[in-house]
Amino acid sequence: MSHHAEIKRRTASSLLAHKGETPMVVLTAYSAQVASLLDAHCDVLLVGDSLGMVVYGFDSTLPVTLEMMIAHGAAVVRGSKQALVVIDMPFGSYQASPKQAFENAARVLKETGAQAVKIEGGAVMAETVRMLSTRGIAVMGHVGLLPQSVHTLGGYKAQGKTQDDADMIFADAKALEEAGAFALVIEGVMEPLAKRITQALSIPTIGIGGSAACDGQVLVVDDMLGITPRTAKFVKRYANLSETIADAAGRYADDVRSRSFPAPQHLYSNKP
Ligand code: KIV
Repeated sequence: MSHHAEIKRRTASSLLAHKGETPMVVLTAYSAQVASLLDAHCDVLLVGDSLGMVVYGFDSTLPVTLEMMIAHGAAVVRGSKQALVVIDMPFGSYQASPKQAFENAARVLKETGAQAVKIEGGAVMAETVRMLSTRGIAVMGHVGLLPQSVHTLGGYKAQGKTQDDADMIFADAKALEEAGAFALVIEGVMEPLAKRITQALSIPTIGIGGSAACDGQVLVVDDMLGITPRTAKFVKRYANLSETIADAAGRYADDVRSRSFPAPQHLYSNKP
């Protein structure tokens, strides 16, 4: 029997230790290879339904299917060892009823091996979060700007600008905590609201376009790597991969057209 310390995955309950402590590091991931590069640096890898926009080229997350989330979720689980993997439930897979949510979330966990799911929505989803969390499914909540509600919100814009709206989002956050969510994404709100929610909850908050006061931060990986052409104000780019990729493709094209690739070292030969 090996006495090597086994690398264990983070658990939903272990993330509670980030409350008011060192912030939790979260990035989205959609493929095994990228997940394996991010794994050592992240507490959580989120298989976000943002993949509909950044991987599939849709102009919203609404067309994303359960099958897409399962295929990419399973890839991210295969590519990672220590991060907690959370998979977004796509639009239409959980809003109809707690029963629908349980059946689809159970399928996601069975077919991917991920540890948790995320659903969008506040107080209106509390009954669903309770249904899942009391039956063994760890749930991450998501309040503020809800991309799956783009048509009822009237666009992707900051939320909670009036006192009434801010109070509503605060109540949403409290309702999700009370229903058993283990963590909460707060997206696209003014800093004071993100702070107020973070201070009032005992579960960790994860900001995106929120505040450094949150208990963690998340970015869409293609945004922070500089692959996506346009990004929101809240994104910081840590690389410029679009330039790197375009440059590599251009040099490859030149080599092919000039017959300088493949070179002798790239050729098979029958010498022993
Ligand atoms: O879909 C997604 O990637 C998300 C994060 C940005 C929070 O929900």
